[in-house]
Amino acid sequence: MSIQWFPGHMHLTRKAIEERVKGIDVVVEMLDARLPGSSANPLLADLTHGKPTLKVLNKQDLADAERTANWLAHYNAQRATRAIALDAGMGTPARAIIAACHELAPERGGMVKPMRVLICGIPNVGKSTLINTLKGKRAAKTGDEAGITRTEQRIVLADDFYLYDTPGVLWPRIIVPESGANLAASGAVGRNAYDDQEVALDLLGRLKADYPQLLEERYRLGLDAQAISQAHEEELLGAIGRKRGALAAGGVVNLQKAAELVIADFRSGALGRITLETPEDFGVWLAAGRKADAERQARRKEERAARRRT
Ligand code: G4P
Repeated sequence: MSIQWFPGHMHLTRKAIEERVKGIDVVVEMLDARLPGSSANPLLADLTHGKPTLKVLNKQDLADAERTANWLAHYNAQRATRAIALDAGMGTPARAIIAACHELAPERGGMVKPMRVLICGIPNVGKSTLINTLKGKRAAKTGDEAGITRTEQRIVLADDFYLYDTPGVLWPRIIVPESGANLAASGAVGRNAYDDQEVALDLLGRLKADYPQLLEERYRLGLDAQAISQAHEEELLGAIGRKRGALAAGGVVNLQKAAELVIADFRSGALGRITLETPEDFGVWLAAGRKADAERQARRKEERAARRRT
């Protein structure tokens, strides 16, 4: 699926993170638990290379608990990495974050060597909400517009624990088409960057394969799981539109309205707890994406060489 995505000002964010990361002990990378692989920014891994990292799988209330457990195990098996799952409904997220950071950097702590942590995440992952909870008051701006910029702030979680908010905006970088679709479905990508119907059809493709029963429970299509998984996405979108009264003049289904409805139901959790990718899925997509990228680069190099010869 094609995403018209032109991230701006990434070079400023890169410079700011590069500067800040020097005096940091642990990087807290916030991910969307419904799409952990796709909501990671590969730039961050480059910039913070070697720094212990805490992966926070946020919005776990919206994600499939079994898949969240798989992702946590996947990350916890990586070097210098810990992973925890959180959501905005949890009363005291600070405790879990502080404990995990101390595991990652046991030499830090006390007034002489306070723990210094940098928190990063792509827009809409829930960073402002978490920071507000950590601060105990609604001071950081939250909103659903992808990419509200804010200046850097330091939050004192304990006398010897400082949390720095990333300066600038860390946009997602879309390496593989599947990630583009998942990011668009989650709301991490601005609305003008994608087509609602394409996103809804991709989403239905995934849901019919992995969560057919949730589709039936929500939309009462009168189909069993097998029939749903065998139906075409277009057919499902049409049936959902008819069922939910998304109709245009003459009683034809308004597919745009139906698409918006499916996307909204996914984002709000009305469809149930869903995770769009497993570590295995993402590994396959990434390998294919990197291969295609390498082939593209090689082709370009060859074309340039051919032009020079003529
Ligand atoms: P950001 O700073 O990373 O860009 O994200 P922000 O905190 O603004 O959160 C983006 C949206 O995600 C907000 O919803 C917020 O309420 C919601 N959110 C944050 N954390 C969680 C969570 O753990 N679970 C769930 N279910 N939602 C979460 P919104 O509709 O854009 O705004 P509003 O309804 O809060 O006003």
